[in-house]
Amino acid sequence: LKILQVAPELAPYAKVGGLADVAGAITKEMSRAGHDVKALCPKYGMLDPIKEGWEALPTTFGVHLGGGRTEYTQLWRTIYPQSTAEVYFIEFNRYYGGGVYEGGSDNAERFTFLCRAAIDFCHAFDWWPDVIHCHDWGVGLLPVYLNTTERQTPLHRAASVFTIHNLQHQGRAGRELLDYAGLPQSLFTPDNLEHGGAVNMMKAALYHSTKLTTVSPHYAQEIQGPAYGCGLDSVLRFRSADLIGILNGIDTDAWNPTTDPHIPVHFSAQKPAGKAVCKAELQTAFGLEQRPEVPIFSAIARLYDQKGLDTFAEIIPGLMNDMDLQVVVLGSGDTALERWFNELAERFPKRVGVYIGYNNPRSHLIEAGSDFFVMPSRFEPCGLNQMYSMAYGTLPIVRETGGLVDSVQQYVSDRGEGTGFRFHESSAHALYYTIGWANAVWWDQPEEIRNLRFNAMSQDLGWEQSAARYEEVFEWAVQSRLRGLG
Ligand code: ADP
Ligand code: GLC
Repeated sequence: LKILQVAPELAPYAKVGGLADVAGAITKEMSRAGHDVKALCPKYGMLDPIKEGWEALPTTFGVHLGGGRTEYTQLWRTIYPQSTAEVYFIEFNRYYGGGVYEGGSDNAERFTFLCRAAIDFCHAFDWWPDVIHCHDWGVGLLPVYLNTTERQTPLHRAASVFTIHNLQHQGRAGRELLDYAGLPQSLFTPDNLEHGGAVNMMKAALYHSTKLTTVSPHYAQEIQGPAYGCGLDSVLRFRSADLIGILNGIDTDAWNPTTDPHIPVHFSAQKPAGKAVCKAELQTAFGLEQRPEVPIFSAIARLYDQKGLDTFAEIIPGLMNDMDLQVVVLGSGDTALERWFNELAERFPKRVGVYIGYNNPRSHLIEAGSDFFVMPSRFEPCGLNQMYSMAYGTLPIVRETGGLVDSVQQYVSDRGEGTGFRFHESSAHALYYTIGWANAVWWDQPEEIRNLRFNAMSQDLGWEQSAARYEEVFEWAVQSRLRGLG
């Protein structure tokens, strides 16, 4: 197949969250499976093509917007690591000078520009993909172009697959966005692009894409109901025959305790001894007391409502009072929550370690050196950290939502079964209780912890299975598209 990936974030170049890792992994895996893959992403201000050694394409190419306006842009090209996929970066300083979602009120326009650029890219290179794979609201108008302005061009045969990583962010804009985009105002109706009086770029994709996927099977079910549907559940029910969930894999080249360059000693399910050295190093790095016997409960996340880490902050004083354990937190985001964690670290020196910021090497050390990983998410389309944790023998403590349900098996007391600890209710109380449960097993039944660790680490968490599912969905989308045209 000829596959075009279009994403607002693409690891290892531009990353805010897990979307970047997933878009990168699919680019790599599809190319390794022998497909002809190209990926397109904005050249944000923080990217330095000269330093990276990317090739500047000799001619500029035009992006055709509404009102007959053409903007000329520069393209950069490189090859995706460990693959033959070509990656193209669109340079357009008016929009992409800042970071990924830092366009302020321009965000709708700058991602519309990306969508239109993808269309013009295919024309300019005379390269006609069988399938265009789009990720989240930023690329939501791309499938709309395929069904409207491209109806008379070879691109109308391209199927679109749209992956929902997070339904909460939808990309809303005034109806003038359609004029900017060069799309007809007749699309501005509730059974099309309009939602609550605005253009909704997520809804646009939900209506116009050939097939829809979510990043876990459980999330695909949840979003078809009002509790998790973010106002679009009726659209998702309408499209349910074309919607499936595929659980993300993890990049086992980057997240592998037997080869990880960011950790002091390597270890594995069969030879777990090195984990203790990583734990000692983690205690040093976060100013915790050196105590090999005490369990470390960690969290790494964007500090926003979705991740529920306010419930963790809320119970830390109680945990410190009632139990013998240590806590490590790495994250950034909401400033009030950042301040709260910093205060907890000051209040409980040597027992609570906090690092506010984004730090990849530290995230690896935390996964390797911790005993438990805390994920009390209010919703979680997939989640990658619980999978990284399991790969490193760090047992996840998760709320039963989205991909956390699909990826973590509940511990069965006294039977050594499971890969972590789950709870249902989204509350500080439920989290407190579950941490207490895990802590009790840690102190009273160490052999059970060894069993769970072994189970967690022995799983196959890589991309192989999921990549095969994406291939099936791409084929399915191509067939449906061609049938629809015939
Ligand atoms: P989301 O995409 O919703 O943020 P995921 O679990 O899918 O959640 O992915 C989060 C990714 O971002 C993981 O790779 C995680 O390690 C990384 N990450 C988040 N916050 C930080 C941080 N402060 N430092 C380093 N890595 C982080
Ligand atoms: C989103 C979701 C997260 C998921 C990631 C990658 O950021 O919040 O749960 O793992 O996308 O698909």
